[in-house]
Parts: sequence; structure tokens; C-alpha cells
Amino acid sequence: MLLSLENVTTYYGQMRILEGISLQVDAGELVSLLGGNASGKSTTLKTVLGIVRARSGRVLLDGEEVNGCDVPTRISRGLAIVPENRRLFGQMTVRENLELGAVLRRGANLDEDFERVHTLFPRLHERRDQLAGTLSGGEQQMVAMGRALMSRPRLLLMDEPSMGLSPALVQQNFRIIKEVHQSGVAILMVEQNAAMALSIADRGYVLSTGEIVLSGAAKDLLASEDLKRAYLGS
Ligand SMILES: Nc1ncnc2c1ncn2[C@@H]1O[C@H](COP(=O)(O)OP(=O)(O)OP(=O)(O)O)[C@@H](O)[C@H]1O
Ligand SMILES: [Mg+2]
Repeated sequence: MLLSLENVTTYYGQMRILEGISLQVDAGELVSLLGGNASGKSTTLKTVLGIVRARSGRVLLDGEEVNGCDVPTRISRGLAIVPENRRLFGQMTVRENLELGAVLRRGANLDEDFERVHTLFPRLHERRDQLAGTLSGGEQQMVAMGRALMSRPRLLLMDEPSMGLSPALVQQNFRIIKEVHQSGVAILMVEQNAAMALSIADRGYVLSTGEIVLSGAAKDLLASEDLKRAYLGS
């Protein structure tokens, strides 16, 4: 198993946010993490990456516990994140933002990586010298995804990639996510749009106030009345 969470609790100060969650992502899988507002989706991704630490339970990468590992160590083991709200460096160019994604491979030849990103997102090649802060929302999402891919991840964590995009761009974005997945990268994707996310996912988990209340194959979840109930209940 590429990623396993075993009975993980995460706190902010005294407040317990994740109530003991267990989930897995296998190599090459696309797994979607669903749930209403404040259910703990972003906290789960942050716990995987190590931005916040699990208070109890285990986070395992390739079967090895990484609870004590910092973020750079986890990135060097194959994780990358496309964060909520993209978090680009607005005063840096597109190219510089992309380079940051490969910062742990400093000195390496990045030509191949740029080529891969530019093939997925030809627009970023056209805009390579433009300041990231002046890009449209859709273009910024492309930079955020491109930057994550520059580290050659095996597991890409994505936090609400459709947020703030027009319906046409959401469609385009999902096509690209599918393409990245088909190239062999596993993805753990947080999405508010359950139907859309499950239409491209292998499996899904549903969080409600820090607990996983439902999980299964994407096609089963899509057909499930429980999914609707879980959503309305959260
Ligand atoms: N840094 C923090 N300090 C204290 N509480 C936090 C912090 N970050 C998040 N929380 C709280 O943890 C809970 C879960 O937040 P989280 O961001 O994981 O939810 P989410 O499912 O991603 O929600 P959304 O759909 O709104 O993005 C929320 O109640 C939130 O207020
Ligand atoms: Mg969130």
C-alpha cells in the first residue's frame, strides 16, 4: 500500500478534528475524499503531508511509519500537494513557480519535467515569463498542478482543485487530473463536487465531523442513497 492512515487523530490545540480515521491509497489509484464544510478534508491532507502531525494512530508510506517525518522528508518519499487556494508566489514568474516544485531536486536537469508539464498545459509554456499573480484562476490552477508534478510524485494530494473555476474550466481540469492519473500517479483528491469526483475516481471516502462515515468503490458510492444522506447530514 502506498499510503495508509490507521486510526489517526489530529488536533488543533485542544480541539480534536480527526476522530480516528483509517484510509488507504494504493499505487496508481485515484481516491476521492468527500465531505461537507469543516468535516476535516483539508486537515486529512495536511496530516498526510506532515503540515500537522497526527496526535495518535499511524501514517504509513510504503508500509513505513512516517509520523515523525517532516514535510520535506515526506515529499522526497513521493508526496506532493496541490493546496487549497493554490498558494502560488504571485510576484514570481510561472517558470519560477514551477521550478519551486523541484526544489528538493536542485541541480537536477529539469528539461524533461518542464516538457511534461508544458505538454499537459501548453498555456503555461506561453505564459512562462508572466507573473503568476496576474494569471487567471484557471491558469493559476494549472501552475499549482504543474508545480506539484515537477517533484515527480507517486502520490498527488489535491485540495479542491475545482474551487473558483468556471464550469468549462472544471471540466478541463478534471480531464487533466484523469490524464495525470493515467500516467501512473496515484491521487488523493478532496472535492465538494461528489458526482464529478466519483466519476473519475476508483474509490471514495466520505468524512463527516472528522470521521469516515462511508467508503467504497466510486461507482457504488455514486449509486448510494447513503451518500446523499451523509452529505445532507453533515
Ligand atoms: N489551523 C487551525 N487552527 C484551528 N482550527 C482549525 C485550523 N484549521 C482548521 N481548523 C478547524 O478544523 C475543522 C476542519 O477543517 P478543515 O479545513 O480540515 O475542513 P474541510 O473539510 O477542509 O472544510 P472546507 O470544505 O471548508 O475546506 C474546522 O472546524 C476548522 O475550523
Ligand atoms: Mg478544506
